[in-house]
Amino acid sequence: MASPSGTGTYVAIDRDACAERLARALADLSTGPFTDPAAPITRYAFTDPYLRTLDYLSERLSGCGFDPRLDPIGNLVARNCAPGIAAIGLGSHCDSVRGGGRYDGILGVLAGIEVARVAREHGFDLPFQIVSWVEEEASGFGQMLLGSRVASGALDPRALRDSVRSLDDGRSFYDHARSAGLDPERLGEQPTALDDLAVWIEPHIEQARVLEDAGEQIGVVEAIAGYVHADLEIRGQADHAGATPMGLRHDAGIVAAQTTIALEQLALETGRGAVATVGELALEPGVINAIPGRARMSLDVRAPDADAIEEIVSAITGLATSFAERRGLTATATERQRVAPTPLDEHVVAALCDAAAASESRWRRMVSGAAHDTMCVARHVPSAMVFIPCRRGISHSPAEYASPVDAACAVEIVLNAALALGAR
Ligand code: HGY
Ligand code: MN
Ligand code: MN
Repeated sequence: MASPSGTGTYVAIDRDACAERLARALADLSTGPFTDPAAPITRYAFTDPYLRTLDYLSERLSGCGFDPRLDPIGNLVARNCAPGIAAIGLGSHCDSVRGGGRYDGILGVLAGIEVARVAREHGFDLPFQIVSWVEEEASGFGQMLLGSRVASGALDPRALRDSVRSLDDGRSFYDHARSAGLDPERLGEQPTALDDLAVWIEPHIEQARVLEDAGEQIGVVEAIAGYVHADLEIRGQADHAGATPMGLRHDAGIVAAQTTIALEQLALETGRGAVATVGELALEPGVINAIPGRARMSLDVRAPDADAIEEIVSAITGLATSFAERRGLTATATERQRVAPTPLDEHVVAALCDAAAASESRWRRMVSGAAHDTMCVARHVPSAMVFIPCRRGISHSPAEYASPVDAACAVEIVLNAALALGAR
């Protein structure tokens, strides 16, 4: 095999053994106590399944010569080298969406650990830092990429303290962190998970079907689409579903429905890779015989280019307002968060491309439609991602599947890229 730039020869690993270890770990982590058995896979900060998963990963890391710790807000950070040494950062997240898949996030953390393990088996003394970012999926507190946004300064610690609350019980993130034995007040007193990193690579499942449709095994991610998350509140008048004539209603549900249809139309008309979703919709009082007086819906708008996102977000908030006002209702949009489209580091991308080419697997460069912690890390550390194909592109669903054999191929490629980057 040809060798990636910067090192002697291409290093081939025992992919079968690596695939076997990954498959076993994924099987372990897909059952109780690592998920809510009522809706597998469900684990999010700071539920018991989530904390047990952190314990499992910490034990695995310790067995590979790492010193796993939780930072003050629950990011798992493990180093095999002394503080201050600029390490090769690998990892992803171990939380899931509620009722999600077995591979999203967790496969990237396990693959990162595998890279460090096989590096050591091959006698390479590389400095690594493995990270599992807290609350990547927003399943616990409604704020996606929470841990990496705090570490990268994209989310102010005061906003985290004062306004991020549990979707389950309304208690603050800080309260839940304290109940998990953390000390969030100490945020800022110690280095963040980004401080001692020379480079960052996140292995992750593709969550779309580009690779599978093309019969390819590896995606080298060169950019990640940006997104805006917002909440739309529509206020009308709750009323009797039977006694209220159609012409006298102020039905918030109708305006929510019109807005949802209009959002789809805007994304289709905008094109340029734009997508838009209403994932959350709550009607109040939410009973069969009452006209909804209030509707709250989430807006998830994404695109590789920032202008397309802006066009859709401003158009949909304008339309929602006019749909509402025509019926004597009001509509109010509140932005929850946004992360801009993120180009990734050309040197890291090139090292991964060289390694992918030398691996003789079928691969391509590509853009990620899904968001990842790498968007935040990349603002401080040269970063890139490696994608592993998903069966039929399905993700955020129990039907999600990715092959440990493909994941082992990604481990081998990341190891060779790390050697090339470490050699520089
Ligand atoms: O929604 C996303 O893009 C990611 O899976 N949190
Ligand atoms: Mn996800
Ligand atoms: Mn993910």
